[in-house]
Amino acid sequence: PAPVIVAIDGPSGTGKSSTSKAVAAELGLRYLDTGAQYRAITWWMLSNGIDVADPTAVAAAAGKPVIVSGTDPARPTITVDGADAAGPIRTQEVTAAVSAVSAVAEVRGRITELQRSIAAGTAEGTDPADVAAPSRGIVVEGRDIGTTVLPDADLKVFLTASPEARAARRSGELRGKDSADLATTRAALLKRDAADSGRKASPLKKADDAVEVDTTELTLEQVVECVVTLVREQQ
Ligand code: C5P
Repeated sequence: PAPVIVAIDGPSGTGKSSTSKAVAAELGLRYLDTGAQYRAITWWMLSNGIDVADPTAVAAAAGKPVIVSGTDPARPTITVDGADAAGPIRTQEVTAAVSAVSAVAEVRGRITELQRSIAAGTAEGTDPADVAAPSRGIVVEGRDIGTTVLPDADLKVFLTASPEARAARRSGELRGKDSADLATTRAALLKRDAADSGRKASPLKKADDAVEVDTTELTLEQVVECVVTLVREQQ
């Protein structure tokens, strides 16, 4: 059978990453975190003195950094110009700047190309360790995977959850790393979602043919089981 392609989209804090990694691991598929790629290009912009509030400057630099993703769900990796970016892309500074950078059409064009190449199993953008397994399918998580990046995906899932549940999950993740309280986390998360949903270039949006799963009252295990069942129904 052809390699299965699964698109998982939705706003922040709905459990996209945990769900996508677990589904990929259970089904023996590769895994791509596209948010990490947008964070990586944002980190590069900040590190190289590009004014992230200036779309012209961001557009002009969009082609410069070399971003490589490792797609093993047990240990996903990301490097920028050969440097490990896994830690630096999770700082509040990057989180605060990423929506502005990812709204720039040149950035999206570049990153979208990389994502399609990785999903197809070609070398560009893929960790060499993963290139040997192009016939294995992939779970790709993001905001516009089902609508724009991989509109022919075999399964599209759109995860949602109440703002309260999303803020609680996100501040749980931040605990120990950052001292952001629940109200601050909730405000930052809603602001980022509004920016991601309101932008012109490929906004966060449920694809017409996506299956919507509200995770507010579900455990991670229940969401994973639901998505795994949906994938198996496609095969
Ligand atoms: O998923 P994560 O929160 O790491 O994504 C960080 C940001 O990257 C999002 O807020 C959004 O601005 C951008 N993004 C995007 N398109 C995607 C994935 C992420 O614009 N497919």
